[in-house]
Amino acid sequence: MRKINVIYWSGTGNTEMMANAIAEGVKEAGNEVNVIQVGDATLEDAKDCDVLVLGCSSMGDEVLEEGEMEPYMESIDGQIGGKKVALFGSYGWGDGRWMREWQERVEDDGAILVEDGLIINETPDDEGLTQCREFGKAL
Ligand SMILES: Cc1cc2nc3c(=O)[nH]c(=O)nc-3n(C[C@H](O)[C@H](O)[C@H](O)COP(=O)(O)O)c2cc1C
Repeated sequence: MRKINVIYWSGTGNTEMMANAIAEGVKEAGNEVNVIQVGDATLEDAKDCDVLVLGCSSMGDEVLEEGEMEPYMESIDGQIGGKKVALFGSYGWGDGRWMREWQERVEDDGAILVEDGLIINETPDDEGLTQCREFGKAL
């Protein structure tokens, strides 16, 4: 059984809905999952898992949320070399640039991206939630 930690930030709950649906998929596939709000996450939570799944909506001007998510990323940059990682998040009016740049960042950290970053526009609908569950199953 794999241990998968889902660590996320969400302002209005859209990325949180994604996190919970991804967790359902992980469980359906028979794996263990911990869903952790980034404000409660430790460095150990990023390290002590088989796959680290990070979620954050697109904030500012195509960046990660700066109060909690960006500092957490800074704390794990340099600590996730060789780690299997997957990224997800909700966005509004952009074209997903925050996700492309975030993926480049974790690859520069030496992490291995196991799935393409999953992005969903605003609140996930039923189809979006199904996509999230499939993403979780595939991890
Ligand atoms: C302060 C602020 C900045 C945002 N900046 C962007 C942005 O640069 N690009 C984008 O596509 N969406 C942007 N959005 C829209 C959010 O990413 C979108 O509403 C998303 O669904 C929020 O998800 P959450 O509820 O998980 O935080 C921004 C929203 C807020 C409140």
